[in-house]
Amino acid sequence: MARGELMKKLLASYGRDEEFRAVAEQIIVEEEQKNNRVLARSLRKTLDNSAPSTGAPKALAPLIPFPDAAGDFVERIEPVHTKNDIILSASNINVFQGLIQEFKRGEDIRRHGLAVRSKLLFCGPPGCGKTLCAEVFANELGLPMFVVKIDRVISSYLGETAANVRKVFEFARKQPCVLFLDEFDALARSREDSTEHNELRRVVNSLLIFIDRIRPKGFLVAATNLDQTLDPAVWRRFDEVIWFDKPNAAMIDRYLKLNFRNIEIDFDLHKYASHLEGYSYAEIERISTQAIKSSIIDRRKKVSGDDFKQALNDEVRRRSGLARLNQAD
Ligand SMILES: Nc1ncnc2c1ncn2[C@@H]1O[C@H](COP(=O)(O)OP(=O)(O)O)[C@@H](O)[C@H]1O
Ligand SMILES: [Mg+2]
Repeated sequence: MARGELMKKLLASYGRDEEFRAVAEQIIVEEEQKNNRVLARSLRKTLDNSAPSTGAPKALAPLIPFPDAAGDFVERIEPVHTKNDIILSASNINVFQGLIQEFKRGEDIRRHGLAVRSKLLFCGPPGCGKTLCAEVFANELGLPMFVVKIDRVISSYLGETAANVRKVFEFARKQPCVLFLDEFDALARSREDSTEHNELRRVVNSLLIFIDRIRPKGFLVAATNLDQTLDPAVWRRFDEVIWFDKPNAAMIDRYLKLNFRNIEIDFDLHKYASHLEGYSYAEIERISTQAIKSSIIDRRKKVSGDDFKQALNDEVRRRSGLARLNQAD
């Protein structure tokens, strides 16, 4: 169908989700047939990301105007990823479903004098989905996500840091949101570190007290790469500690399928899954993307096993370089 006709159909389908998707699908297929693969892929990704939520419509949280006080220290992130974009273990899915149910029935639970779990600690190695999951979680809840800029909070004059922390928490107390504190270990570690300025240690202690006291309107999510080495005084302040591990063979399989869901390949993805054990999701994503890029550069329609092997070798090279760097530290 001519492009103009399709555009007209697309506009006419506004508000009718199924029809809209069908027309959008037609446009994507046409672009694929014209060999505009990059455009087609990007359109499909956009369409997939805007998948309609199943079940009840989400209640969008009211947005409180940004109080100047916290504006410098938190950044609003528009959640775009959905649960279709993340691989989670069955036990983590259970935890999150439980948290979502609890949040939805929060008022009833509080009326019974009970607390709703709202302070979460995400632990695990880098690139295993802590940040992504916070975003998906916010999306599922229909809450905005705010990322705390810890460096801003801390690097200002030490005397002001405590006041900055207070502003951030004051914000989270009023604004229903997912407040995300990344690299929380950096903060928590300094509590132990005797070389740090006393003032900073006091600030960290006051941060922990804040965490203790706050009843967020939504969720406070802190993320750390550390595990056992994290101070127990930090652990016990959270209602839930959730682990994000590197994927096992079955999850690698699922993740590869996800990465290549709209891509034509001429090799068996499953065969590579066992070679990828020990890699993080972020690394596997990088390998997949590099393999796809090789096929685009060579103007081949399909990604080949060689593309994938080459990308895997690159990752191995990168890793051994990084290992040497770490040894030199
Ligand atoms: N569990 C996962 N499922 C799907 N993709 C993932 C997962 N974990 C990581 N990724 C991919 O790797 C990228 C980096 O992950 P991220 O959430 O920032 O890791 P972390 O915060 O644990 O360091 C994500 O944007 C996503 O593309
Ligand atoms: Mg992260």
